[in-house]
Amino acid sequence: MKQSFYRLLHPKIVFFLTSAGRDGRDNVMSCAWSTPVSEEPPKVIVAVSKEHYTAELILETGEFAINIPTKDLIKAIWICGTKSGREIDKFKEAKLKKLKATKISAPLIEGCAGFIECKLTQVIDAGECYAFLADVIVSSADERYFSKGVWLSNSIPMHLGGRKIVYFGD
Ligand SMILES: Cc1cc2nc3c(=O)[nH]c(=O)nc-3n(C[C@H](O)[C@H](O)[C@H](O)COP(=O)(O)O)c2cc1C
Repeated sequence: MKQSFYRLLHPKIVFFLTSAGRDGRDNVMSCAWSTPVSEEPPKVIVAVSKEHYTAELILETGEFAINIPTKDLIKAIWICGTKSGREIDKFKEAKLKKLKATKISAPLIEGCAGFIECKLTQVIDAGECYAFLADVIVSSADERYFSKGVWLSNSIPMHLGGRKIVYFGD
């Protein structure tokens, strides 16, 4: 039976993609389309719809952070994945607290289990999305959820597609 190709590539880790505006208006959106593309040098791609406020901010500042949530933040994932930062402050709306990143101006999100701070190196026009290729500047994880190089079972939300989320290890 014919299927959407991208659904066949899920489940994917769903994360908060944070960005900073020149005017200090930070933003956060839920994102699942991402992949490492090189270990040496460390590089990652995130795919963001050209229409999203996040795309505008990443093009402006050249920076973003990947914040990998625990299942406690599942409600916030839906808020940040269905509303635009053009209209509202999603940090407030989703009750997410910002943390200062170590190397970039985009904020991190308290309570997340993993963080990847990134600097944009190339913008690929990929159709409806920009594929943002970026250098990984620093990456870290909370050992309660990530140990010996792997995520521990049952802690990290994975996007199956549509409105379906499962937990790794379920
Ligand atoms: C689970 C989930 C995963 C998502 N993954 C992506 C994605 O990979 N790329 C994308 O452009 N939008 C994705 N979205 C949609 C955006 O999060 C959503 O359109 C958001 O409102 C954009 O916000 P912004 O305008 O503030 O940037 C996802 C939404 C959800 C709920």
